[in-house]
Amino acid sequence: MPQEYRLILKYADQPGYTPDIECYLRNGGYEALKKGLSLPLKTLPDGKTVTASVQIRDEVMKSGLRGRGGAGFSCGLKWSFVDRKSGKPIYLICNADESEPGTFKDKQIIHKDPHQMLEGMILACFANDVHLAYIYIRGEFMEGAKILERALQEARAKNFLGKNIFGTGYELEIYVHRGAGAYICGEETGLIESLEGKRAYPRIKPPYFPAVLGLYMCPTIVNNVETLCAVKHIVAMGALEYAKLGTPNNTGTRIVSISGHVKKPGYYEVEVGKVTIGELINDPAFGGGLRDGRKLKALIPGGSSAKVFKAGEKFKLKRKGPDGKDVEKEFDMLDLPYDFDSLIGAGSMSGSGAMIVLDDSTDIVKALANISEFYAHESCGQCTPCREGSLWMSKALHRLTHGQGRKNDADYLIKIADNIPGGRTICAFGEACSWPVQSFVGKFKDEFVAKGAADEERNAKATDAPQAEHFAVASRANR
Ligand SMILES: Cc1cc2nc3c(=O)[nH]c(=O)nc-3n(C[C@H](O)[C@H](O)[C@H](O)COP(=O)(O)O)c2cc1C
Ligand code: SF4
Repeated sequence: MPQEYRLILKYADQPGYTPDIECYLRNGGYEALKKGLSLPLKTLPDGKTVTASVQIRDEVMKSGLRGRGGAGFSCGLKWSFVDRKSGKPIYLICNADESEPGTFKDKQIIHKDPHQMLEGMILACFANDVHLAYIYIRGEFMEGAKILERALQEARAKNFLGKNIFGTGYELEIYVHRGAGAYICGEETGLIESLEGKRAYPRIKPPYFPAVLGLYMCPTIVNNVETLCAVKHIVAMGALEYAKLGTPNNTGTRIVSISGHVKKPGYYEVEVGKVTIGELINDPAFGGGLRDGRKLKALIPGGSSAKVFKAGEKFKLKRKGPDGKDVEKEFDMLDLPYDFDSLIGAGSMSGSGAMIVLDDSTDIVKALANISEFYAHESCGQCTPCREGSLWMSKALHRLTHGQGRKNDADYLIKIADNIPGGRTICAFGEACSWPVQSFVGKFKDEFVAKGAADEERNAKATDAPQAEHFAVASRANR
């Protein structure tokens, strides 16, 4: 029987567990910080010694932790790109924007266990020689911002922040920065611009890789809330124990937000790759199945920008055979393990870990119109393909859902969507707005064509009728 594995959410929903520091300390809070900061110098076989900071960075690399914000990039590798020789300060930013539609996991951590996030963040700062860090929280999370401000005050009062933390001489300050509530503020370079007090216009990479030219043009690490929580557990349990959770190359746990047409929408923490999509939708431990009498129609597996899966789709993925060699294995969509690599292999992504379940009552054209309207609204407008393309797609979908569709709208949508991504835009929003259109229209084309054709036929008849009437009236008047 598949079950949740609660590591980050271990205490979050337990009766009597509160977000205050005393409760966190009673449950072993800040022990990992103490351990991490007081690691003795380690002597390597070649006689070199490594500091506590370097040891933590090594542990994070060994743990295999992949970012939980969307791209699933190796956290250890990201940290290794930080320019440590520039002589400039290094900054760390916790990305608490949680703007991908369908995602509601970071909010749970912030509301229910804010000190866990702070502990992970302080460890990540210590490991990377950071002395000033920010939590960038989306504007709408007013309560979350208040909770974090209070948690920071509590941490300062206990000297987990400030000068000479745990008597080690290490100094750190963290501030909360509230965004103004735009999706693009979640994109790391847009976020940095916004933190600098400007419009959240993403920066072009190269040259503006945050690890080299980030906040105030200094080396900067941007990590998601959940990723930083995982750092605390890696230090607490050790990289090797952490890496035993999950599956190879997809280690640890992750929190999946399940929404849509399931009986038990909610957030569920699982070992990465140990649970399938079908189990997450149907098992009583998770989504609890579809609403009575309904069948699955589609699934968006990783937040609204992820490519949609159609019920019944099959995928061929590479798996290790008994002799260690790669063999191709066929998977039904429901049997795909919920991990980074399997979902990429199936042509989509686990993204921010947000599964949106659509049953057979869903009007697929309306669903896509809704998603596209969001992306057209949220494009920052810097790049022509994204600014114009997202709007054209949204307009075509608007007419398709308002009785004004055309038979060739499906092809028109695909043509636009194919011309936005692939290096034509500054940031990955270009992909984010195109992937839903490419996949929805590509996989449910008949529904788009049928709707457009029906509109065209009905409207042609409707315009013929008044025109005939108009000519009759005009010829009577001319007599
Ligand atoms: C349009 C767009 C929106 C994004 N929104 C978020 C977000 O709300 N939260 C987040 O953590 N990452 C978001 N990301 C990913 C970030 O740019 C960045 O990769 C992430 O915060 C890195 O953290 P991680 O390595 O811990 O995953 C977004 C990316 C794009 C392209
Ligand atoms: S891709 Fe879109 S959101 Fe990203 S910078 Fe260009 S216009 Fe802005």
